[in-house]
Amino acid sequence: MTLRACVKGVGHYLPERIVPNAEFEATLDTNDEWIRARSGIERRHFAAEGETTSNMAAAAARAALSDAGCEADQVDAIIIATSTPDLTFPSVATMVQAELGMHTGFAFDIQAVCAGFIYALSNANALILSGQAKRVLVIGAETFSRIMDWTDRSTCVLFGDGAGALLLEAQEGEGTAQDRGILSTDLNSDGRHKDLLYVDGGVSTGTTGHLRMQGNQVFRHAVEKLASTATTAMERAGVTPEDVDWIVPHQANIRIIQGTAKKLGLPMDQVVVTVQDHGNTSAASIPLALSVGRDRGQIKPGDLIVTEAIGGGLAWGAVVLRW
Ligand code: UT7
Repeated sequence: MTLRACVKGVGHYLPERIVPNAEFEATLDTNDEWIRARSGIERRHFAAEGETTSNMAAAAARAALSDAGCEADQVDAIIIATSTPDLTFPSVATMVQAELGMHTGFAFDIQAVCAGFIYALSNANALILSGQAKRVLVIGAETFSRIMDWTDRSTCVLFGDGAGALLLEAQEGEGTAQDRGILSTDLNSDGRHKDLLYVDGGVSTGTTGHLRMQGNQVFRHAVEKLASTATTAMERAGVTPEDVDWIVPHQANIRIIQGTAKKLGLPMDQVVVTVQDHGNTSAASIPLALSVGRDRGQIKPGDLIVTEAIGGGLAWGAVVLRW
């Protein structure tokens, strides 16, 4: 028998305010057609004034707990992937722990930008496999609207806010690729590319800063690195693209999503796509897509899922799991 980190529940939260592409036309030299054609984005949600990453993370966590039929005090650990914490410290995860009324266990944040949820899943898997936790809430939550430069048309039209959560639980498996739960993970980073996507502020500068991106340079790395990490994760899991039911990619750009699916030899009707409705929500994009994909009836129990992401660092990775 082998321990597996299995999905027990999933949930998400999106802020009420929806901003269509056309809204940017009033203040920027841009248009709906360019944004749709170059990125696939049609609209995004922006947090209300005073609405924070921890508020959204807690709402997604509650939805995942309710989906699992589980109480907060049955959870051993909370891991939150975010690059937009409420405060420099304490972690968003401890804030959510308090908000959920969970007074035991432990909670911490992971910062790997858009690859954050993949890193968080991999860490949660390691905690479960090593027996340090039985149930782990893994959350991706972001308020990227707070770090946009609203005069920079090349970035501010691309990002959105939101949160998604999975509750993972230790279950016995057979040790085969037929098991439910996480079957493999693959993490990578290469700090030589740190200047392609970064925020020009932080504690040591005394400012929050704004997101800066050389989008076309990031694009050049994306398809190749995503297809490569997904292939490595599939090999580790002992599965091939023919076995896969769904790719659930990081939702940054429809052209990256299409290019990666093509490289993996999978048709777009096996890809969960939410980028048109959410924009790029960084670490929140994968759990949002998993939750929406499940709600749409696309993802079903037993489905084999490959999920992958790349972002600032560069940091990238993939997880293979059976739902
Ligand atoms: O999630 C983290 C990882 N991030 C990503 O994966 C993002 C990866 N990159 C991308 O998604 C794409 O590179 C973008 C959507 C950011 C840009 O698409 P692109 O096809 O790479 O366009 P580009 O940056 O090469 O820009 C083409 C043109 C430029 O004008 P010139 O120099 O050709 O005259 C830009 O100035 O489009 C211009 N442009 C715009 N035009 C209208 C840039 N932003 C806009 C805009 N509206 N919002």
